[in-house]
Amino acid sequence: MSTLDEILGEAQAAFVAVDSLPALDQAKARFLGKSGLVTEQMKGLGALAPEERKAAGARINQVKDQVEALLKARREAIQVAQLEHQLKEESLDVTLPGRGEAVGGLHPVTRTLARIEQLFASIGFEVADGPEVETDFYNFTALNIPEDHPARAMHDTFYVQGGQLLRTHTSPVQVHYMQDHQPPIRIIAPGRVFRVDSDATHSPMFHQVEGLWVDEQASFANLKGVIQDFLQRFFERDDLRVRFRPSFFPFTEPSAEMDMSWGDGWLEIGGCGMVHPNVFAHVGVDPERYQGFAFGLGVERLAMLRYGVDDLRLFFENDVRFLKQFA
Ligand code: FA5
Repeated sequence: MSTLDEILGEAQAAFVAVDSLPALDQAKARFLGKSGLVTEQMKGLGALAPEERKAAGARINQVKDQVEALLKARREAIQVAQLEHQLKEESLDVTLPGRGEAVGGLHPVTRTLARIEQLFASIGFEVADGPEVETDFYNFTALNIPEDHPARAMHDTFYVQGGQLLRTHTSPVQVHYMQDHQPPIRIIAPGRVFRVDSDATHSPMFHQVEGLWVDEQASFANLKGVIQDFLQRFFERDDLRVRFRPSFFPFTEPSAEMDMSWGDGWLEIGGCGMVHPNVFAHVGVDPERYQGFAFGLGVERLAMLRYGVDDLRLFFENDVRFLKQFA
C-alpha cells in the first residue's frame, strides 16, 4: 500500500494533469471515492492497535484535507482558464468600422396602390378583397361570359388543378361583393391578376384596381367624372388627356376603354362601363331599381406613366438599381 506522502504526491500530479472539470471529477474519485486511495487508508485503521489509531486517523484526515484543498485549487484554476478561453473566442473588436445600414423602401407598385386607395377613399370608396384562385363562375359566367362564348378567348387564362383558374381580372370581386351586400355600393378592389401574356406593356402577373358604384342613380356621366377626377388628382395635372374609346366587355353595356396620352400615342389604362343587367341578375340586385358603373384599371400602367418607366417588366425583375430610385 502507498504511503500517505505518496498518495498526496500522486493526487497533486493527477490533478495537474487534467484540464477539464469532468476529468477532474474522475481523478477525484481515484483518491476520495468509495474505494479511493485515501478512503482505503481509513478502512485500514480498524486493523491498527487502539493506541495507534488516533494518531494515524489524524494523519489520514490531514492528508484528506490536503487532497481536497488541491482539488479545490485545481477546480478554480480550470474554471478561470475556461472563462479566459471563452472571452478570447468571443471577443469583439469594437474599434472596427460599422458595416452601414441599408434602408429599404416600398416597391413602386405598392406605392401606386397606396396612392390609388387613398384617392378613392377620399371620395367615399371602401376597399374590398377577393380570392386570386377563382372558379369559372366568378371569373366568367356570373360576369355574363357564358361557356363557349368567344369573349373567353380574350383572356389567356392560367388553369389550375381541379378546374379552378387564376383570376384574369379583378371583376369577380364585383360578384362576391354584390352577393354579400345590397346597394348602395361604392368599392374599389385592388389585387393581383394573371394572364398568359408577356411584353413591354404586358406581364403574366399584374395588378388591377376594380371600381364598382351601384345606386339608384349612377350614370355614365358620373363614371366619366369619377375617372377623370381620379386621374387628374393621381397625376397632379389638370391638363391631363384622357380618352374614352367605345369598346366591348360582356359585363358592361355600354363599355369603353380608357387611354392616357403616352409619348406620341396613347396607353390603355383600363376598361369601364355600365353594369350589365345580366350581372345584376346573377347576384340578385334589381336592375329596375338600381344602376351602376364599373371600371378596371391597370396599376402597372399607371405606375409607368407616373414614374416615366418605359418597360413594365422592370417592376418585376427586382433589380435594386431600378428599385432604389423609388425609395
Ligand atoms: C378587364 O380586365 C376588365 N375586367 C376591366 C373592366 C372592369 C371593364 C369593369 C369594365 C368594367 P382589360 O382586359 O382591358 O379589362 O384589362 C384592364 C387593364 O388592365 C388594361 O387596360 C391594362 O391597363 C391592364 N392590363 C391588361 N393586361 C395586362 C397585362 N398583361 N399586363 C399589365 N397590364 C395589363
